Amino acid sequence: MKAEEIVFKLLGNKRLARKSKAQAFAPANIALCKYWGKRDICLNLPINSSLSLSLGNYGACTEISLTNGSQNIIVLNGKTVPTEEKFFQRLSAFLSLVIPERFFYINTNANIPIGAGLASSACGFAALVLALNDLFAFKLPAKKLSILARLGSGSATRSLWHGFVEWHAGTDPEGMDSYAEPLPITWPNLNFGLLILDPTPKHISSSNGMEHTKLTSPLYTAWPEYAKNVLAQLKQALLKKNFTRLGTLSEQCALAMHALTQTASPPIIYSKAKTLQAMHKIIQARKDGLEIYFTQDAGANIKLLFLDQDASAVKKLFPELIRIRPFHVEH
Ligand code: PMV
Repeated sequence: MKAEEIVFKLLGNKRLARKSKAQAFAPANIALCKYWGKRDICLNLPINSSLSLSLGNYGACTEISLTNGSQNIIVLNGKTVPTEEKFFQRLSAFLSLVIPERFFYINTNANIPIGAGLASSACGFAALVLALNDLFAFKLPAKKLSILARLGSGSATRSLWHGFVEWHAGTDPEGMDSYAEPLPITWPNLNFGLLILDPTPKHISSSNGMEHTKLTSPLYTAWPEYAKNVLAQLKQALLKKNFTRLGTLSEQCALAMHALTQTASPPIIYSKAKTLQAMHKIIQARKDGLEIYFTQDAGANIKLLFLDQDASAVKKLFPELIRIRPFHVEH
């Protein structure tokens, strides 16, 4: 089924702007159980379900309005994005899918590095979908908004909420059962630490990376079942507030995903020397009694998981760390 038909199923003919501009914020999210591999490339339907934690006030704020011009104007962090850039083309393709034959002025401010494995596309597309929902008064329920965001970027489907979010892979070829939902669990003393080791954009996009991995890694056949188990165990760890389990499972799941990319042919190695150094430092710190874990997405940067009580020890170990308390969101 084509993406256009799914959009029609979601929106019908609601394509009339109801106000002159709209604005929305969406947090970035980091997967603890990773999404890696698509069962449908065009609709961003995943092979496995995944679970993420949003980054509180870190994300993207997007303002949109219609223009009478003949192309979109996209401004990112104060700079106009050239039309030949991939980012421009991706966003424009999504806009013409949702609202064909109209053009927009889009002003996005993101307070996380773009394209460096910090879930910038997730919050970008989620904020855009929320702003479109407002501008055109789609009045879509959360489940449908999540499906619409998924058509922009898979992980965007999880960026509509704060806290823990589960994305159900679903089995429907049209993807109507592939959407995310927030989990009713809060964990106020849980922290993320962002370690920006390399702010440059990743060399292979997540989409290309996962497809290449799926087609060429001999380990990929084990992934769907493995990810299913991780998800079930992570949910148990959340219910029991078992930080050791949460950290151990999250770290292992990230390493398993990178084992897939590294055994693809040719291999994809997202880590840099600094990434490995930081990982060794974390593993040693743990041996020395500091309970700290890491996760890594399709980029060289890593994110740490730790509890409030260890915040100053972690900061001493990594002074450059950006500390995020996902459950302390300022509105
Ligand atoms: O949604 P995408 O295409 O940016 O892919 C996201 C892939 C990972 O960040 C590595 C994993 C995840 O579940 O977010």
